[in-house]
Formats: sequence, C-alpha cells, structure tokens
Amino acid sequence: MKPADLLIINANLLTLAGANRPRGGEEMKELCLIEDGALAVRGDRVLAAGTTVEIQRSYPEAGEIIDAHGNLVMPGFVDCHTHTVFAGKRSGEMEQRLKGVTYLEILKSGGGIHSTVKATRGATPEELYHLGFDRLDRMVEHGTTTVEIKSGYGLDEKTEEKMLDVINRLSREHPMDIVATYLGAHTIPRDIDRSEYMKWLGGDSLKRFRGKAEFFDIFCEDGAFTAEETKLLLKAAKKTGFGLKVHAGQFNDLGATKDAALLGAISADHLERISDEQLSLMADKGTIGVLMPGVPFFLQSDVYPDAGRFRKAGTPFALATDFNPGSCPSYSMQMMITLGAFFCGMEISEAITAATINAAWAIGRGNEVGSLEAGKKADVVILDITTPEEIAYYFGANLVQLTMKEGKVLYQRPELRTTN
Ligand code: NIG
Ligand code: FE
Repeated sequence: MKPADLLIINANLLTLAGANRPRGGEEMKELCLIEDGALAVRGDRVLAAGTTVEIQRSYPEAGEIIDAHGNLVMPGFVDCHTHTVFAGKRSGEMEQRLKGVTYLEILKSGGGIHSTVKATRGATPEELYHLGFDRLDRMVEHGTTTVEIKSGYGLDEKTEEKMLDVINRLSREHPMDIVATYLGAHTIPRDIDRSEYMKWLGGDSLKRFRGKAEFFDIFCEDGAFTAEETKLLLKAAKKTGFGLKVHAGQFNDLGATKDAALLGAISADHLERISDEQLSLMADKGTIGVLMPGVPFFLQSDVYPDAGRFRKAGTPFALATDFNPGSCPSYSMQMMITLGAFFCGMEISEAITAATINAAWAIGRGNEVGSLEAGKKADVVILDITTPEEIAYYFGANLVQLTMKEGKVLYQRPELRTTN
C-alpha cells in the first residue's frame, strides 16, 4: 500500500462517493457521511476515505495530520457558472433596482452588461488578471476549489480574446482549477449591426477561439438572443468542436433548452422558467440544470428555479453563484446552498450534491473533482460546523476553516489546530 503524506482525522466526513455520473432524483440526497471519518492524501490525490481508526491503522507513517475536531469535512465547492473576469462594478444599478427599475430595463437602455463591456474594453490584460486573481482568492476563502469562467464582456474580437487570454493565464497561474467558456453571445453589442455580429459569432470567432475555451455559451433572452439565433449558433459551435452551454429561462422561457438538450449541451443554466417537456428531455439527453438562486435573490424576483420539479423529472441539477457584477456579486457557494434550500425547495443534502459532484459534471470534471474518493483530487474544505444543515442555518456566514486544493492548504483560519 502506498504511504500517505497527510491525514485529515476526526471528521464528520461527507465523501459524496457514489455513481460515476451526475446524480438525479432521490440519489441527490445521499452524501455518504462517515462519522468519525478520516481522509488519507498522497501528493495531489485522495488515497482513501474511512473511519479515523481504519485510516490511522492503514497509514501509520503519514507525515502530517490535520485534526478536524469533529467538524464537517467535505469536497471543495465547484462553482460551475461564473463571470469572474471583468472590470468595474454596478452597485449603482443595484440602487436603481431597489427603487423599482428592472434588470431588463437597465440592459435595454444601454446599462447592465453594456456598462461592464465598456469598462472591460478599457482595462488592460494586466488589470483584468489582477482583478480576476483577487476574486479567485476570495472564492478559495469561501471554500471553492474549481471554477468555470466565461468571457462575454468584450463583444468584439479584441476584447473577447483579451478575456479568454486572461482566463487561460489565471488557469495556469492560480491554484484553482479553471474551465474556460466562450460567451461572445452574451448580448448584441450596441456598436455593431445585429446580422453582422451574428455572422462573426457563427463563423470566424468560433475558429479563432476554439483553442482558448472548452465550452460555448449563449444568453437566450428577450434583449439578448432569440431561440432561432441560439439554435443556429449552438449548431455552429458544436460543429467547431465546442461543448455547449446555454443561459435560458431566466426571465422568459423562449424554448432554447429544448434545442440545447437535443444538441447534447452539457448544461442549461438559470431555468427559473422551464416547461415539463424540456425538463424531461434534459433528463433523457443528460443535460444538467445549473440553478443559480443568488440571481433572483439579488434581483429581488419572486421567481426561483424549482428544484422539486427537477427531482420529480429525475433531471440532475447543480448549483452555482453566477458570480458577475450585475445579477449576483457573491463569492459564496455556502450562501447558494442556503438560498437553494430556502427558495428553490432543495433539501440541504440535494443542495450539497448540487454544489459539488453535480457541479463538477456540469463542467465535464466529474471524474476528477466533486467527491472524496480514491484517485480523485484532494480538494477539501473543513467547515466550522458538525452537521450539513448548519451550512444553511448560519446563513450569510463564511464557515470555512480550511481550504485544500490538490493536497495543499490554500487558506486556513488561524484557530484551526494542526498536530505534528
Ligand atoms: O448569468 N444572464 C446573463 N448574464 C449574466 C449577467 C451578466 C451581467 O448582468 O453582467 C447572468 O446572470
Ligand atoms: Fe451567467
């Protein structure tokens, strides 16, 4: 048996071990809790999970031991939908919205995404890199160890490329695992004719950016792209070799999820509004629903995605922050678990599955991260609580004591006691 470098002992350990595929229906409630559990780590990988007695007996020589003192230990969060690279902020829009102006009204009048596009076009790659790096550090403090990042605040060749280059540099230089998504189809820029932009999106841009992003994403919505445009661009992106994602059903269900599922999209995201027909099609085709309750919360909407309907249809769902300057500037997957439980009808266990293993599958990383099983990455968080439901109970607090990425401690609160 290979020796371990490190043990985490005396944990209430959630491994999320189970079927090697996205979990749907009742399966999402199974967290695989090991009471008085322990984890053995070698290099960047998990060697074994078991009880503290078993693990200490099997790996007596481990150089370092972290004593979790009975606290909750679980896989690092996977934030599978974010817009982390951008310049500027939009807190002024939040104040407008608090006075009753809506998100779509702000977008249509040239604010919203357009205002972030302006700021991002004006920023240097170096500035964007440092902004992105700092935000990723904050996410690590909140327990996130893998993140997807989209372009989409350039809406021209130069700036989309600048964003993708920054995302790829962050992927090389920040310890977080980063998955890049090309979102030139975020909305139609105000300085180009619609048909001209569509032509570039479906043609040259795909070829140019194929080597810089794994997924292609599009915002299908009133004020952004129609269902027909979405179908056209998804088809072209698929042909070029991109994996597919859509922003759909946020304010209006234009039906794009149907085409996305039929084209084999890995995920459809938002889905506050979605028909039963599309929901079961997603289950059939293996398209995961990425639910982002931070968005309706921050936009003060009454309409949240309904996890109960996903459960009933057997459609696997994931959770994400959608971190962005307009509709959800939150770094916290813990907060998303709270909101998922309070507003989307998720059980806490389902929300935890959604924030870890199912989120990993939603970005094609289910074999590597999202659960603590032999051979997977040693991406671990220790929380300042003993039971899963306390994540939602202490809402709004950052409960993270320690974040470990690939066997290395990236963040640790001073009060955590380490022996040896
Ligand atoms: O996922 N829905 C469209 N795009 C983002 C918001 C982007 C923005 O407002 O800057 C989202 O919510
Ligand atoms: Fe988004």
